[in-house]
Parts: sequence; structure tokens; C-alpha cells
Amino acid sequence: MSSNQLDKKSEAWSALFSEPMSELVKRYTASVGFDQRLWAADIEGSLAHAEMLAAQAIIGAQDLADIRRGMATIREEIESGRFAWKLELEDVHLNIEARLTQLVGDAGKRLHTGRSRNDQVATDVRLWLRGEIDGLSTLLADMQRALLGVAEKHADTVMPGFTHMQVAQPVSFAHHLLAYVEMFARDAERLADVRRRVNRLPLGAAALAGTSYALDRERVARTLGFEGVCQNSLDAVSDRDFALEFAGFASIVMIHVSRLAEEIVLWMSQNFGFIDLADRYCTGSSIMPQKRNPDVAELARGKSGRVVGHLMGLITLMKGQPLTYNKDNQEDKEPLFDTVDTVRDTLRIMAEMVEGIIVKPEAMQRAALKGYATATDLADYLAKKGVPFRDAHEVVAHVVKAALQQGKDLAELPLATLQGFHAAIGGDVYAVLSLQGSLNARNVLGGTAPAQVRAQIARHRARLQSVG
Ligand code: ARG
Repeated sequence: MSSNQLDKKSEAWSALFSEPMSELVKRYTASVGFDQRLWAADIEGSLAHAEMLAAQAIIGAQDLADIRRGMATIREEIESGRFAWKLELEDVHLNIEARLTQLVGDAGKRLHTGRSRNDQVATDVRLWLRGEIDGLSTLLADMQRALLGVAEKHADTVMPGFTHMQVAQPVSFAHHLLAYVEMFARDAERLADVRRRVNRLPLGAAALAGTSYALDRERVARTLGFEGVCQNSLDAVSDRDFALEFAGFASIVMIHVSRLAEEIVLWMSQNFGFIDLADRYCTGSSIMPQKRNPDVAELARGKSGRVVGHLMGLITLMKGQPLTYNKDNQEDKEPLFDTVDTVRDTLRIMAEMVEGIIVKPEAMQRAALKGYATATDLADYLAKKGVPFRDAHEVVAHVVKAALQQGKDLAELPLATLQGFHAAIGGDVYAVLSLQGSLNARNVLGGTAPAQVRAQIARHRARLQSVG
């Protein structure tokens, strides 16, 4: 192909084609509208390939110099928005290669030696994704730090813990937030694990079977910072399981975010009133002047849907694809790109919002008292005095019933009343009926006692010190 022919690729892939593509087919098959996002990875991969070709004496030193010069120009053109992307050239790879040939002539045409777009695109996507993964792992650490920042101030703040959305037992608000820190910490572990498998080099697989040129794949892998080389050429060009894994990670992290967002929405509602959000994360209503809506949290919750949808899309994309590369794979990009964008923006905005949360400890405390959150503590108290736990459980049910009828909290019932339910109850009972007493009592590893919570915060802080 002369540079002129490559420019009009759609009109003739090669001498074999006798009619041009229709406009619709051109539009339908082109990916340049979205895959131009891969440009930096494409150039980086091409330069590594070219260096290796020169080192192996497959191309000349002058060719390599020309390719480097041309790529530097292309980089500038793209960065400054002057690069003319052409739909006729289908994708990011052909656009860059055609421009390179225009700029440097034959050296540009030698770049594709021992390479196919099949191993090229797989390499580009992995390189690009690796960079995004590194950005996301920093954001996951930021998210954890934001939660820790609030937790640090609220180890002693008591809120009702819920099961079945019913008040269950008092918990430290910090303990509640630390549950999310655990989730995001596991997400970060998962992401690091995904990265190891993303970070392998397909280049050298060529179209599908490998190549007859004496390529040094290990060298290219080293240049590009890949941890290893894909060991089977057919697998290298065809599988996208690394993208599926990433989408799996992304779906899980979005589900975690969604649960947190849901709680923020609930907590901010008038019925809970546990927290308030800074105005900048809320919107008003065009009709109801009193409204301040937690739109950011709601959107974060809602956006989990699209990310889980992308996981479904990507998995289905792979189903039934015979080995090796099929054009189906071009459909991996938009879901993958949108997944990255959505997770990135969501983590950023949620971390910011969490940092600015306004906590209302009195409302939390009131809610915990109202729900008889220390009933289990009373049962445990009786059990520790020798009453079999099942019997103690039943006694306390009667106490709660009476307290409900009188509209009183357990701690407000006089000792004589309490003793009427069981003779083992003594004056020391009030220590366990208080919210703080209940909290302090759960001094087991992983429990909600403020001492445990503070130890966990310190552990998380130390763990996060080594992360970006
Ligand atoms: N744009 C293509 C993709 O994203 C590049 C690979 C095309 N290879 C091919 N043989 N048509 O998958």
C-alpha cells in the first residue's frame, strides 16, 4: 500500500477489493469515534515494538529514528487537538499508522512488521486499562481515608444498628463506617489481583498464530512494564477475560458504593435525621421550596446499574465467540470505557461528599433509645447472673412490652418495676442499659466497643500509609 492508498483504506483494503464500502457499513464498522481514547497506549506500544524490531535488525536504525520522530509529531498533534481523525481509517491504530506513513514514509510502513491489529489492540487495551487501574486504586485509598476521617471523630457516637431495617443493637457510628472501609479495602485487593492478569503482553501473537520474524517478546514486555508475556498466541488475541474481571471488580465496588449511598439518603431523610450533607451535594425542587435532595448519593446508587449492565454486556460479548479474534471484540471498548469513567467519577464524588458529612449524634442516640437497642444487653445481664439465656430472652420481651406500654425507655423503668420481672435484677443493671455501656461491653475483636474501633482505625491508617 502506498501512503496514498492507506489514506483511502475503505475504498480498497487491498487489490482484492473491487467495490468501496457503503457509508453505512463504514459507520457501522468504525471504532475511531471511541477508540481514539487509546491513542497514547497505541503510540507507546508501537514505539516498544519498533525499538525491538530495530534491536533484532528487522528494521534499520534510521527507520526507528524516523518512527520516533513521526510519533513525537503525532503525539503533539493529538494533544493539541490538531490531529485529523478519519472515519475512513476505521480505528485508532490505522489512523495513527497512516499519519505516521504520511510523515515519515517507508519507515512508517515498516512499523507493522510482525504485528497485527489483533495483538495490537489487545496490547493497547491492556496498557490503557493498567493506567486506569492505578488511578482507581488511589481513589479507593482516598475513599477509605475519607471514611476514616469521619470515623476518627465518632468512635463514641452511638447509633442504632439495624437488622431487617429494625433497630437491633447500639453500635458506634465509626464502627458502621469502618464496615465500608473493609469493603473498599477488599475492592482494592481485588483490583490489585486483576491488575496482575491485565498486565501481560499479547504483542507477538500477530494475527493469531505468532509470526515468522524473530521477535523478542520479553524485551517488549520489559519496555512496556508488563509482568509477563501471553503464552499462547490464539488466547492472546482472542480472550478479553481481563476486561470481564475488571468489570466484575467494578460492579462489586459500585454495589458497595450503592449501599453506602442508600444509607446516606436514608440518614439524611427527616425520618432519620442522622446526618446532613453540605449544600453543594444537594439540589432543590422546582416546586417544593423546602426540599434539599441528596441527588449525588442517589445518582451514585443509580449508576451502579449501568456498571453491572456493562459486566453483563461484556460477558455476553464473549459467549460463543470461536477462537480467535472476531470483530465482536471491538464492542468491548465502550462498556469498558464507561465503566472506568463511572467508577472513577463516583469514587471521587463520594469520597468528597463523605468527608463533608455533618453528623448529628443526638438524633442517632434518640433513635437508639427509642428502639430498645439495649434489650439484648438486659438479657445478657440476666444470663450472666445464671438465668438460662432462652429464659432471659423471654423475660426481657415482657420488660420491653411493658416499657412500650408506658412509653418509656428501658433505662427509665424504676428498679422495682424491673425486679418485678425477675428477682435477679439489681441496681447495677442501669450500667448495661445505657447505650455507652452496651457499646463498651462488646469489646471483642471486630466488635463495636470504642476501644476496638480505635484499634481498627489505627490498623487501617497504618495499612493505607503505603498506598498512593
Ligand atoms: N478496531 C479493532 C478492535 O477494536 C482492532 C482490531 C481489528 N482487527 C481486525 N482484524 N479487524 O477490535
